[in-house]
Amino acid sequence: MSKKIKRIGVMTSGGDAPGMNAAIRSVARTCAFHNIECVGIYRGYEGMIEGDFTELTARNVKGIINKGGTILKSARSKEFRTADGRKKAYATLTANGIDGLVTIGGDGTFNGALIFNKEYGFPVMGIPGTIDNDIFGTSHTLGYDTALNTVVDCIDKIRDTASSHNRLFFVEVMGRDAGHIALNVGIGAGAEEILIPEEDLGLDRLLESLRRSKKSGKSSSIVVVAEGDKIGKTVFELKDYVEENMTEYEVRVSVLGHMQRGGPPSCFDRVLASRMGVKAVESLMEGQSNFMVGLVSDKIELTPLENAVKGKSEINKELIRVSDIMTT
Ligand code: F6P
Repeated sequence: MSKKIKRIGVMTSGGDAPGMNAAIRSVARTCAFHNIECVGIYRGYEGMIEGDFTELTARNVKGIINKGGTILKSARSKEFRTADGRKKAYATLTANGIDGLVTIGGDGTFNGALIFNKEYGFPVMGIPGTIDNDIFGTSHTLGYDTALNTVVDCIDKIRDTASSHNRLFFVEVMGRDAGHIALNVGIGAGAEEILIPEEDLGLDRLLESLRRSKKSGKSSSIVVVAEGDKIGKTVFELKDYVEENMTEYEVRVSVLGHMQRGGPPSCFDRVLASRMGVKAVESLMEGQSNFMVGLVSDKIELTPLENAVKGKSEINKELIRVSDIMTT
């Protein structure tokens, strides 16, 4: 029988994502519901080492469900990657009576939790929070849906100016090594081409496709480029390349950058965060550890953290075909 959990620490780590605050609120309120104490750990593993903590109650997490970013701040800790750093973190947690941990973040965060559990047997539960949606074991990570809506909104605006000037725009979107954001916003915003790391379109096919779209009467075009795309050129080099090879196009580049990570979470992300927080706390209470909570066929399920880290979240191939048909 595992020991009864009395005091849970919650932290956010890695790149922030909309919905993280909603998840913190959910963890704190689920703890309060079950008469468990909840401690917020500032700046991820960095704050865990230093003991930068704050008590979280049902009441002091009010008014954050609609806020982007993370009230607990986020960091990527170098010290926690060392055995010495993790030893300090363990000492700080135990000195503060914390006996379970909910980590909200991406695969770097989960890798840290896994190794910490392996070394100290500390109960850990992960909640996937990243706009990239690049985590195995969940159809949606926290922040992904919000980022999709933010990016579609930006591209709609770029479309207005692109069509007014008959221009071609390369729009670079985030996603690290994954094309989930690019593929979905590309379809949602009606892009002419979508360049993602999972599919190497090749420069020739890109030119061919742009020529076809010009011929078919389109005066402006949007090409969505995932930041991890492997076509071999940056968006700026792509602009030069297309301008050299297709003098009929006036080309502009827009790199959307970190604005994609900000803003109030969508309703979807708020509900998902609330569900994930409940499951994470109640799973720790049941004595479960080393799992990530995720959305699978609209149910909140547990996936071993190890699989979440090692597995690959595949893009939906059907979307590539849909996009091809839509650009006819
Ligand atoms: O993982 C989230 C993410 O926003 C990626 O899409 C992007 O590649 C990276 O973080 C940017 O990281 P930083 O905050 O260090 O600039």
